[in-house]
Amino acid sequence: MKIGLLGNGAIARVVTAHCEASGGRIDIMGAVVLSEDGPSVGGHPTFTDINSVLDMAPDLIVECASQQAVLDHGPAILRAGVNLMVISVGALVDAKLRTDLARDARANEVKVIVPAGAVAGLDAITAARADGLERVMLRTRKPPNSWAGAPGVEGIDLAEITQPTTIFAGSAGAAAQAFPKNANVAAAVAMAGIGVEDTWVELIADPGVNRNIHHIEAEGAFGRLEIDVEAEPSPNNPKTSHLAALSIVRQLDKLIDPIQI
Ligand SMILES: NC(=O)c1ccc[n+]([C@@H]2O[C@H](COP(=O)([O-])OP(=O)(O)OC[C@H]3O[C@@H](n4cnc5c(N)ncnc54)[C@H](O)[C@@H]3O)[C@@H](O)[C@H]2O)c1
Repeated sequence: MKIGLLGNGAIARVVTAHCEASGGRIDIMGAVVLSEDGPSVGGHPTFTDINSVLDMAPDLIVECASQQAVLDHGPAILRAGVNLMVISVGALVDAKLRTDLARDARANEVKVIVPAGAVAGLDAITAARADGLERVMLRTRKPPNSWAGAPGVEGIDLAEITQPTTIFAGSAGAAAQAFPKNANVAAAVAMAGIGVEDTWVELIADPGVNRNIHHIEAEGAFGRLEIDVEAEPSPNNPKTSHLAALSIVRQLDKLIDPIQI
């Protein structure tokens, strides 16, 4: 399989290492990066324009860059008849972008593939949805300084927090607006289940944790599930859960494995 990348950071590094060890099963043709990026994280060339990578006719482009990159390049990729894998799934909270990408994918007979990212259980939630989900909630706990800079913590002194403090409770859509850089997990859970308006999200600044901890509950005709993930940070980016990169690796293997689990 021939792929291109969007991004040259922590996740791109893990994905590249996996592809380079795949014995030619997954070849990276090139990556689209920002002009300020350093040298390529692998043996592939880097470009600042998407057409240089699209011209190499990859089967798939893996976005591991930013929500802005999904907005900037997603439509062009799909319109070129190339599949797109999106890890900055928070971008898809925007209903217009989601609708536009779905339309372009359908028209060009390609797919937008969303890996599970930093959480687990999206397979069960999407399966349960087929017979009706009544309730889906996500409670995310992170060290206080992980929430710094978000519009949702304006007026909150994160350095003063000495016990677990709920800094947001509301819909996944509102969570994505208040904490755009932390929107990925809420967006993925919401899109797998009952949507951004009906998925309940609680965000907690917890000085007692040093991992990102996600707790998901879902209830419906299938029964009930609870999932807890305590994600180690990426060795190359403390803001990124290492599991997110591994979920891309998993999806890439799934595209080529003859037996798919
Ligand atoms: N779905 C999930 O659960 C999940 C989990 C962790 C991270 N993420 C997302 O994955 C993305 C990548 O994470 P990372 O840790 O590798 O980040 P990083 O900062 O280490 O690397 C990002 C790379 O993308 C490049 N980039 C950014 N905007 C770009 C654009 N518009 N065009 C081309 N290149 C661009 C940067 O220059 C950099 O090389 C982030 O958006 C992050 O929010 C998702």
